[in-house]
Amino acid sequence: MQIEILTLFPQMFPAFLTAGILQRAIDRELISINITNIRDYTHDKHRTVDDSPYGGGAGMVLKPEPIFEAVEAIKLKSADKQGNGEFPVILLTPQGRLFSQEIAGELCSYQHLVLICGHYEGVDERVRQHLATDEISIGDYVLIGGELAAMVIVEAVARLIPGVLGSAASPIDDSHANGLLEYPQYTRPQIYREWNVPEILLSGNHAEVARWRREQAIIRTWKRRPDLLDKSKLSPAERRLIDGLEKM
Ligand code: 6GU
Repeated sequence: MQIEILTLFPQMFPAFLTAGILQRAIDRELISINITNIRDYTHDKHRTVDDSPYGGGAGMVLKPEPIFEAVEAIKLKSADKQGNGEFPVILLTPQGRLFSQEIAGELCSYQHLVLICGHYEGVDERVRQHLATDEISIGDYVLIGGELAAMVIVEAVARLIPGVLGSAASPIDDSHANGLLEYPQYTRPQIYREWNVPEILLSGNHAEVARWRREQAIIRTWKRRPDLLDKSKLSPAERRLIDGLEKM
């Protein structure tokens, strides 16, 4: 998978890309990430990327030309390699659809993605209308720019690519992967400051452990994020478990 990131602040990315699992995924060519400086696609002496809004008002708006030209250059470069298939161009903006585990899974299915980091008071509307195929926000708060959102999306998507995490099975039980929060995890020591690991986890009975974990995930989700339970697939017995919790 190849991810193209268009940004005004390319210097924000090297530390992110050269740490741990992501660096290893890049080295093993499971994912390739290209950073493009939008400013490289300006043509004036001052390398202008923004201008004041038509109609007046505070702040600056990102000009359309450098963004269009940067995306078009990327598309041209990759056309010979993979001209087929879709080529989502995603504008990162607090006005976008809310990012989720489900959207991470959706993005993971593409060979090629373009992420445009928005900035200032916004981006010229023509980028939205005629260049972006999607708009994504990572939450209901406002950041200075889309760079952190791009990193969030890259991490969430990269770890779903087969082989990126050590074990192929590990994303399956994640919080949110099945619509529930994850069950509690323990490791050695068995007793720490007189706090014991739950007995069931030491039993070696895999079916019982699986049952306990599923129940814990449901209880935890009910306590912390009951909104998630409406969308998760629960068996009739599991629905009864929740009814029981609600009567307590
Ligand atoms: Cl994608 N960009 C900015 N600037 N702020 C945000 C965001 C994106 N997602 C949440 N807040």
